[in-house]
Amino acid sequence: MLNILPFCLLLSITFDDSLALPDFGLHNLELPKNFKRSNDVSNTAATGINYNPDGTPFLWLPQDEYAGKTFFDRWQFFTGPDPTSGTVDYVDNVTAFANGFAFVQDDGTVVMKADDTTSLPMGVNRQSVRITSNAQYTTGLFILDITRAPWGCAVWPAFWTVGTDWPNHGEVDVLEGVHDNQFNQIAFHTTSGCILDANASFTGTIPVQNGQNVTNCDANVNSNSGCDTVEWSRSSYGPFFEAQGGGILAMKWDENDISIWSFYRAAIPTDVIAGTPNPSLWGLPSARLMNTMCDIPKFFANHSIVFDITFCGQWAGNSYATSGCPGTCPERLMDPANFVNATWNINSLKVYQKQLLSSNSTTTTSVAIPGPTLTLSKTGIFLSFAIALLFSLW
Ligand SMILES: *[C@@H]1O[C@H](CO)[C@@H](O)[C@H](O)[C@H]1NC(C)=O
Ligand SMILES: *[C@@H]1O[C@H](CO)[C@@H](O)[C@H](O)[C@H]1NC(C)=O
Ligand SMILES: *[C@@H]1O[C@H](CO)[C@@H](O)[C@H](O)[C@H]1NC(C)=O
Ligand SMILES: *[C@@H]1O[C@H](CO)[C@@H](O)[C@H](O)[C@H]1NC(C)=O
Ligand SMILES: *[C@@H]1O[C@H](CO)[C@@H](O)[C@H](O)[C@H]1NC(C)=O
Ligand SMILES: *[C@@H]1O[C@H](CO)[C@@H](O)[C@H](O)[C@H]1NC(C)=O
Repeated sequence: MLNILPFCLLLSITFDDSLALPDFGLHNLELPKNFKRSNDVSNTAATGINYNPDGTPFLWLPQDEYAGKTFFDRWQFFTGPDPTSGTVDYVDNVTAFANGFAFVQDDGTVVMKADDTTSLPMGVNRQSVRITSNAQYTTGLFILDITRAPWGCAVWPAFWTVGTDWPNHGEVDVLEGVHDNQFNQIAFHTTSGCILDANASFTGTIPVQNGQNVTNCDANVNSNSGCDTVEWSRSSYGPFFEAQGGGILAMKWDENDISIWSFYRAAIPTDVIAGTPNPSLWGLPSARLMNTMCDIPKFFANHSIVFDITFCGQWAGNSYATSGCPGTCPERLMDPANFVNATWNINSLKVYQKQLLSSNSTTTTSVAIPGPTLTLSKTGIFLSFAIALLFSLW
């Protein structure tokens, strides 16, 4: 490793501090001769290298990590009325920390929960939290590792991303459910002109209405139901997901598609655990919005990440009567004991950015890697040489 630096400098690439590139499994690897184009899956497995449909190779490099004691440093607590009409009071950061609705356990687990200690008269809002990331992202690979996601009668949580000026820059609901449901429901919401291609490859089910697949993502039609996909696994939301020790939700967003995978804990891919995620090894996603019928860069941009827990309202309220839950939603809200499972327990949220390994671009590329910073200049072609050199010398 120590011999690398001179070669890199030769290529006008500078490294700050000690070299600590993530281990992308590139050790002792001879990169393919024709590096720009390869469909060799076994090679992909060995390297963490992904390929665009046109054959361009790329890596998902770490960009941001939200975890542990510093988790809450880069979020805002939303305190407005719930846009989805929930019977909820979203509290500010001071109240959330003081009342124990948001905290970090000694073991590093980040907890966000609803008020589960206060008895309320009928019709009074229950306190809860909704947070929005300071950072905005346009494309990325987002990997959320959780041991618990909120559930229970009257409860409606979501982990999602959304652009400013909704719905102009889109919304992706990565994890969402109500009551004691067992199936995660993924949804995309856009302006007019984005359709979910039902022929794309994914394992989830598209809801059918009047004999037709609901594939129009336009937020202004179908009462803003968006285009949804329901996961097939009973362990993707609610009691079974929690009983499995939770798991990960991954959202891959690039110019080709927006795809969502969920894995309960025992099934988490080893490349994810290693911090070198390679979605091409994960099999079919649960949901996929393809660029064939939706111009992804046009409909999705500058997304913040959001976690929330609301109650009743447009989904949990309107579906309450048919949910099998006791009484009515407003009645359910009164007893705090009904909300002991309305809890996010988060191990980490990691965001990765796509780094092409060869291109004609002459712009300077900066790749932020936790810890030292790798700054790359000159052309992208040099980057591929550098990486090839780096790892052949490792
Ligand atoms: C709450 O957030 C504000 C800024 O949004 C910050 O100045 C303040 O320190 C935070 N308070 C707590 C207790 O985290
Ligand atoms: C999906 O494929 C089938 C069979 O090839 C075709 O008939 C149908 O029109 C396609 N649907 C869409 C939405 O492209
Ligand atoms: C709905 O989409 C599925 C693929 O997810 C397809 O098999 C089915 O034929 C479609 N149904 C209609 C009514 O278009
Ligand atoms: C996204 O944000 C950047 C930086 O603020 C801005 O330059 C860009 O125009 C935004 N994109 C869209 C589609 O609004
Ligand atoms: C909370 O979860 C536990 C464990 O699954 C379950 O026994 C209990 O009934 C749940 N309580 C509520 C109010 O959902
Ligand atoms: C780079 O750009 C040149 C001119 O724009 C083009 O001829 C060439 O094919 C491109 N090379 C690659 C590797 O894309």
